[in-house]
Amino acid sequence: MNIIDKFHHWRRKLRWNKQYKSGRWDSLQSEKEAFRYQQIVEYIRDFGPNNPSILDIGCGDGVLNLRMEDMEYSYFLGLDFSKVSIEKAKARNFPKAEFIAEDAIKYQPDRNFDVIVFNEAFYYIHDSEKQNVLDRMLDHLNHQGIMIISIYREGTGCWEYFKDNSRLKELAFTKVTTDEELRYWKIGAYKKV
Ligand SMILES: C[S@@+](CC[C@H](N)C(=O)[O-])C[C@H]1O[C@@H](n2cnc3c(N)ncnc32)[C@H](O)[C@@H]1O
Repeated sequence: MNIIDKFHHWRRKLRWNKQYKSGRWDSLQSEKEAFRYQQIVEYIRDFGPNNPSILDIGCGDGVLNLRMEDMEYSYFLGLDFSKVSIEKAKARNFPKAEFIAEDAIKYQPDRNFDVIVFNEAFYYIHDSEKQNVLDRMLDHLNHQGIMIISIYREGTGCWEYFKDNSRLKELAFTKVTTDEELRYWKIGAYKKV
């Protein structure tokens, strides 16, 4: 990123903090949004190992965990560059889970995971950094581990990173719809090969 991109990136981070503080993203806990979290959980159950370790990039305030209900996992790490969202996630006290305020662009995982999730987060990563972030995360995905990506509506400029990636094989791809024509998500599950 050049200096101007870095400035906008910093401003976006402040905006996320402000929005989480004001409750703007509480809507992610609504029943309408629940469908996409449920699809992600279903993919983890269908394609992940038992008791997986999970990395959730851009985890927000931990709504994916809320929707995991009785799903067993050995370890869950949520990261988000919004400190406010991370404080909210921590306050939920999920078992076997940690939440850290980190920027996906810089974050170096210090362990490997069975499942890595980009849940409504990949398109926020600056175009010049998308490939770097994806490659770094793939380096920390176990062999045969799975990556799950959810993107609102069409995800223009995003899906090719996964679909045309020689390190990944598509396992499933679904469009999750709601009763609102324009509120839908595409969700893909990929295996590391
Ligand atoms: C639409 S929210 C989705 C939150 C959560 N994944 C969910 O679906 O409940 C997008 C999240 O991505 C985070 N985010 C955006 N850019 C990021 C970056 N470079 N590093 C870490 N988190 C980022 C935002 O702070 C925000 O919490």
